[in-house]
Amino acid sequence: MQVVDLLVDHFAGIHDESVGRKGGRAELQALLAGPPPEEPEGVSQIFSPLKEQLFSNMLHVDHPRFFAFVPGPNNFVSVMADVLAAGFNTFTGTWFAGSGPAQVELIVIDWLRQICRLPEGAGGLFVSGGSMANLTGLAAGRHEKLGDDLTGAVAYIGEQCHSSVARALRVLGVARDNIRAIPSAAEFRMSVDALNEAIEADRASGHRPFCVVANAGTTNTGAVDPLPEIAEVCRREDLWFHVDGAYGAPAVLTAKGGELLAGLELADSLSLDPHKWLFQSFETGCVLVRDRAKLLRMFQVMPEYLRDTEGVSDEVNFGNYGVQLTRSFRALKLWLSIRAFGLASFRRAIERGMEIAEIAERELAATEGWEIVTPAQLAVVTFRFSPPGLSTEAVDGLQGRIVEAMLADGYALATSTVLAGRPVLRFCTINPRTTDEEIRETVRRMTQMGRALATA
Ligand SMILES: Cc1ncc(COP(=O)(O)O)c(C=O)c1O
Repeated sequence: MQVVDLLVDHFAGIHDESVGRKGGRAELQALLAGPPPEEPEGVSQIFSPLKEQLFSNMLHVDHPRFFAFVPGPNNFVSVMADVLAAGFNTFTGTWFAGSGPAQVELIVIDWLRQICRLPEGAGGLFVSGGSMANLTGLAAGRHEKLGDDLTGAVAYIGEQCHSSVARALRVLGVARDNIRAIPSAAEFRMSVDALNEAIEADRASGHRPFCVVANAGTTNTGAVDPLPEIAEVCRREDLWFHVDGAYGAPAVLTAKGGELLAGLELADSLSLDPHKWLFQSFETGCVLVRDRAKLLRMFQVMPEYLRDTEGVSDEVNFGNYGVQLTRSFRALKLWLSIRAFGLASFRRAIERGMEIAEIAERELAATEGWEIVTPAQLAVVTFRFSPPGLSTEAVDGLQGRIVEAMLADGYALATSTVLAGRPVLRFCTINPRTTDEEIRETVRRMTQMGRALATA
């Protein structure tokens, strides 16, 4: 009961709470450490201090004024689904052990397939997050295009790709020197000309290009790479086309997002992250592959102790489609939340995220000292505090100091990134619970902080 109360209070009272804090290492050691108790501690002794000591010493990524990194605005139904999945300790690695859950996973994966406009025959599975989705999709691609021979294998990724893409390629055995970061053309979108030139140069020098990774919404600016053109290059050159939609793909549910994301349906594999813009609790990632048999070809291994699970041909063993055998029931969260709220609510919530970024952009543009670096796009806007009379270096230094001041203030949080070599601030506004007043007040406070720091 205490646990549910704690959660209800958290969801209901979050607007009045601080966005969180970052504790110091020594302070937290002193607060939380101790030897493992030999005897049981009392329930209230364990649970009562949790909010104060533990959950207040973290940033609340679900907070309506958390605009840093990529927020995690989960919903309450998803939290309850997690409790149920853990309470029933659901095993979804094989049909034999978890037929009902596997059927639900098939259904929800097919909903996502339809939402992302992939053809019938496409399928996939739930994984821990976007990083694992990228790894899983690219593993299928490597297996299809290269078999077991990685000699000279080359992969092309956008220079704006998320770090998990290069990491996945390294895990898969692609030499670091053979991961080509293709420069952006305008608006931080991958340059197709540069991609073509790189492929041509690699073929001429005897390398073996095998895949291109494009973005359906970059983490930095929300930019969408020219997906149809890149798909065409992949078709012509016989390369695997992986699209990282971990951040932006859910926007395809909206009219504006649907236009921006044209070409998503051409992916050979596509990463999605329902724990971002589909409002699920961590860890809920998903990978879809155009021909799901390709996942099976990559991952299936049948040991003797799992022979009883082989079963009838239409039974699906998700353990054979990815890295994990024992896996929790992630599909339940999305299944229950889509049914509880309806897809139309998801559409509206995603549209609201885009609208908040537009309000922020207008507010910043109208306030002296701010310069918009990239306009609101898929709920991301980047900007710099650049008051007149300061050198470029001084302005560079100011951005990180504004983040520190926000962290100390606790009302809201934005973080910085680097674009074209210069530090910029960034809002990611995918939490539909953010009010207009909260985003305006955030800009007001940031302006005050920027002015105080600039004159200090
Ligand atoms: C575009 C993109 N790809 C991949 C990832 C990695 O996802 P995860 O942190 O869920 O592993 C992120 C995370 O922010 C992302 O924005």
